[in-house]
Amino acid sequence: MSQDQLKKAAGWAALEHVEKNTIVGVGTGSTVNHFIDALGTIADQIKGAVSSSEASTERLKALGIEVFDMNSVTELSVYVDGADEINHQMEMIKGGGAALTREKIVASIAKTFVCIADGSKLVDVMGTFPLPVEVIPMARAAVAREIVKLGGDPIYREGCITDNGCQILDVHNLKITEAKALEQALNNIPGVVTNGLFAQRGADVLILGKPDGVETLTL
Ligand code: A5P
Repeated sequence: MSQDQLKKAAGWAALEHVEKNTIVGVGTGSTVNHFIDALGTIADQIKGAVSSSEASTERLKALGIEVFDMNSVTELSVYVDGADEINHQMEMIKGGGAALTREKIVASIAKTFVCIADGSKLVDVMGTFPLPVEVIPMARAAVAREIVKLGGDPIYREGCITDNGCQILDVHNLKITEAKALEQALNNIPGVVTNGLFAQRGADVLILGKPDGVETLTL
């Protein structure tokens, strides 16, 4: 099976976590695109979605799913999103697609975070995938200097402007053993909008697409 087929299997399996007549939190990325396609098949059974990116919004609307402004929604029963890496404590690195800030915001009002991924995303120690950090453009160099003090090697993701008009530093060579503490330390640097560690609020359910079938893990 190709990696995309594994992503598709995970994305479609997440449908069982969607409650009828609710507004669904929707993440961003190639795995979530499969989930959105699945959601389209029950578009008449849900109220709509809160989206984490312009790309997901466009795909949802094309399938006839109403997209609500986050300011008009107080709580979501479920948020479904992918990950670049996830460890056995359900802590994640996200933001490979530069949508980390809106993803973290939408996830924050969901009762349950369902992570969907192909099996390769499950790791013992995070950090092989460079950690994305969204920054205010005028603070980019200052933030990069602080990240070096924390032991990382930040690389400016050239040509990438986020949905919020900001920029991304990808932090290489981290071995993340204390994810919650690192998430907090990065948040404390002036100029950081969001970092891609989802540890303080990790996933509750992990649906992994594997060659021998879909595996569901919970904490
Ligand atoms: C988007 O910014 C990311 O957080 C994605 O959720 C993550 O990169 C996973 O993407 P794929 O599903 O495309 O692997």
